[in-house]
This record gives sequence, C-alpha cells and structure tokens, in this order.
Amino acid sequence: MYPIGALLIALFLSPMEIHIITVLPELLESPFAHSILKRAQQKGLVQVHIHNVRDYSLDKHKSVDDYAFGGGAGMVMMMDPIVRCIEHLQSTGKFDEIIYMTPDGERFDQQIANQMSSLNRIAILCGHYKGVDERVREHFITREISIGDYVLSGGELAAAVVSDAIIRLIPGVLNDETSALTDSFQDNLLAPPVYTRPAEYRGWKVPDILLSGNTPAVDQWRFEQSLERTRLRRPDLLDE
Ligand code: ADE
Repeated sequence: MYPIGALLIALFLSPMEIHIITVLPELLESPFAHSILKRAQQKGLVQVHIHNVRDYSLDKHKSVDDYAFGGGAGMVMMMDPIVRCIEHLQSTGKFDEIIYMTPDGERFDQQIANQMSSLNRIAILCGHYKGVDERVREHFITREISIGDYVLSGGELAAAVVSDAIIRLIPGVLNDETSALTDSFQDNLLAPPVYTRPAEYRGWKVPDILLSGNTPAVDQWRFEQSLERTRLRRPDLLDE
C-alpha cells in the first residue's frame, strides 16, 4: 500500500519524464527495475523511457559511429541517428533540458539534482566511443554533466546515477518525505552515523544517547556528529 499523499500527488501531477538516449539500452535495464526507482514508476511519479540510437539509423548496417575527421584512434557517434532520435522526441513534447553526459561537463552535485527534480521532461544523451559529433552538442544540448573526474566507458552508468539522484527527490517517491532532507549534502553537511539492532554486538555498543528516547537530545547529537564528520572529511563543504 502506498501512502495516500503519494497517490494524490500522482493523480494531480503529470509524472516527470526522463528520456535516455543510448547505443547500449541493455546497460540501463537493471538500474530502473528495482527498489525505489521501480516503485517511483509504479506510483506514476516518473516515467523512464530508454531510446536506442540504432533504431534511428537509416543505413542497412544500422551504424551509429564513424571514424574521426583528422584521424586518430577511436570512433565518433554520428550526427544523423542522434538528431533523428532527438527531433522525434521533441515532436512528442518540449524538453526542459537536453543533457549530454560527458567527463568534460559541469560537475554533478546535490544542488543540481534538486534543481532537476522540479523539471517536467528531460532527455539525457549518453556519450560513447570518443564522444558525439561536436555539432550535436552545439545545436541540441542544453546542459553537459559529468559525475566526476574520471572516464567511464560510456555515459549510461552516469545517466543512471543522475536519474537516481533526481528521482528520489521527486515528492512522494520516498515514503518518509523527511528522509531525503536528511541525506548527506542536502544542507552542505554529511549525514551522521546510523545504527540498528542489536544494541550490542561483540561488545561494540550503540551510543547511549540513541537508546535514551530523548528526541531533542538525539537530534542535537546527530547534528553535532554531522558537523564533526563534515569538518573531518569534507571541510570544503563548510567553507561553502
Ligand atoms: N562519460 C564518461 N565518463 C563520464 C563521466 N565521468 N561523467 C559523465 N559522463 C561520462
């Protein structure tokens, strides 16, 4: 059973649409088929559509890549199948953003996830090989996102990361609405440590305060732990 609030939200709001454009759709099957992301789709809060670039290729080999002009190792994703795919999707509705996943994009963080969770319809293009023909970026892409300073084999896993971070912030997706608010980074603080039963394991004890039943004292302890953890591990967040 879903909470009544989530059902009402689903009834009155049209679901956010995320369209992922890829040459490897198989890579994106599992991330959306389980747990929170699966339930978010079942509740009608988000629709995730995966589009195979190859379906938009017109030549008989269904090519999606070609040699780079100027030479050099590595293939480049061709304009035409991507443009056909994007224009087809645009003909079914307007996009708030058309995002390209690339290691040279803007670094993804919680603030960008928050912004994007309020959008209605986004497309995410996954790069592959040496990347896409630059003209796709110039003429169609509205935002370029990197998930960190390392190079993945393609943009699919990065697109799944970004989608996950966005979807869990859509109102009604998490059962306990406050749990996204207490995530690390939501207030520029890392989350405090958490414990569950048993209260003692091999002599290792849960902090007494968490067993006290004193909610204000527990909140204060958690805040202090967050602050201390942030100071030790990510002091840069406190400077912000
Ligand atoms: N594609 C390859 N590496 C990537 C990264 N770090 N972020 C986003 N897309 C990518």
